[in-house]
Amino acid sequence: MSTDSLFNSIDSIEFYVGSAKQWAYFHEKALGFRVVGYSGPETGIRDRISYLMEQGEVRMIFTGFLSRTSEISRHVELHGDGVKDVAIDVNNLEDTLSFIKENGIAKSGNAKKIKGENGSLARAELSTFGETVHSLRDYSEWDSNLPPGFTEIESPENNLGVKKVDHVVGNVEENKMDPWVNYYVKGLGFNQLMSFDDKDISTKYSALKSKVVEYGGRKIIFPINEPALGLKKSQIQEYLDYYETSGVQHIALATDNIIETVRKMRNNGIRFLETPGTYYDELDERVGRIDEDLDVLKKLNILVDRDDDGYLLQIFTQPIGDRPTFFYEVIQRKGATSFGKGNFKALFESIEREQEKRGNL
Ligand code: FE2
Repeated sequence: MSTDSLFNSIDSIEFYVGSAKQWAYFHEKALGFRVVGYSGPETGIRDRISYLMEQGEVRMIFTGFLSRTSEISRHVELHGDGVKDVAIDVNNLEDTLSFIKENGIAKSGNAKKIKGENGSLARAELSTFGETVHSLRDYSEWDSNLPPGFTEIESPENNLGVKKVDHVVGNVEENKMDPWVNYYVKGLGFNQLMSFDDKDISTKYSALKSKVVEYGGRKIIFPINEPALGLKKSQIQEYLDYYETSGVQHIALATDNIIETVRKMRNNGIRFLETPGTYYDELDERVGRIDEDLDVLKKLNILVDRDDDGYLLQIFTQPIGDRPTFFYEVIQRKGATSFGKGNFKALFESIEREQEKRGNL
């Protein structure tokens, strides 16, 4: 069995939130997603409400609770709104589970078959950092776009140009980055792509370390961050304090036209991190010639970085929920296949300015 064909792609990302309806409304009105499925008491699911939303290939599920004794209620009380499940579509669940078990590093539950009108969906749960899980889903005997328990919702196309998930970033505790990289590389057959140490990613005050793992020719990319010692509190530590454990820090949404996507999101009220005007003064020197108009990028606060293969444009939102934990990135790759060091620093300086406003730096 070849280890590079166990996992296909990110299937969907499920959040546990205080109000699924509000999260769905926000993603519809501000971020260009549309509701395609609903699950709740009306569909025979008694303890929760879920909205399945789509944009391009991106699928998000927002799940809220109907009772204070529910597991979702406990999760939201402890962590705030956040990502519970980064679900992965697998070719053959049995092969994947036997690979994981033979390795003995990653921990997975047993395969369960959920039967419904549309066939049978095989799934198993794999735990990862904090309380986050990867549910592994094998759709080979399932004949529907909707997961079991969901009913179809008709809603108009609402796209802002988001095509797919580029990467999903995890924040883990100090000295836990390497064990988690090992978990993905040795335990699940991922490859390590690159690493940044605290010398690469430090500002005057705080620092962090980051390593990136990928699967299947970058079909799945998971960067993993840990806090590092600085003069003041690392922003990764601020995340860990508010989330009360490790968890997903951000999801990067890929677009083919970041200027249009960001312009529309801004018009819809999405707030992005601010970049000082001086960032653009040295941009020419740092990244060389690019297709986009620098003044437009500056006006929209879009960052640019370069690697050996090309360049990329990216921008980060303010936290989406109440706690300063989860946020989105919007990214457009123009040749670049990895991440540049320059923007890492610019991002951390912007987060630091926000952190200082919250009195946590
Ligand atoms: Fe990112």
